[in-house]
Amino acid sequence: MSVVQITRIVRFNCAHRVWNPALSEADNARLFGKCNNPNWHGHNYTLEVTVDGPVDPTTGYVVNLRDVKAVVAREIVDVVDHKNLNLDVPFMAGTIPSTENFVLAIWRVLAPAVAPARLARLKLWETENQYVEYDGR
Ligand code: NI
Repeated sequence: MSVVQITRIVRFNCAHRVWNPALSEADNARLFGKCNNPNWHGHNYTLEVTVDGPVDPTTGYVVNLRDVKAVVAREIVDVVDHKNLNLDVPFMAGTIPSTENFVLAIWRVLAPAVAPARLARLKLWETENQYVEYDGR
């Protein structure tokens, strides 16, 4: 059976400060540099959400992308857009808001929420030159 991947792209912006409260101010500054700025900084994120599966012979679709779009908007974009990842986003609470941790947290929210579609991969761009990928492993 042929498996096809289909991707929905969304964009949002968030503020954050990358820091580990278990470390000293000096260690945080040395480790995280500009990303440790106490008064926050922002990023324009791009998130690529890929689901996969066989093509349904009745619809010709793997999944109705309208449903995926609605779930991603409700569970992620509406929760994080124009928010501070350190302060405002429940699913990031207690987490160092690196791009790596952000993509893991998004996966934990989206994987059950997109069912019966199967979440295959997330690609999260923090800048136009840098992204992280996660496939659930
Ligand atoms: Ni940053």
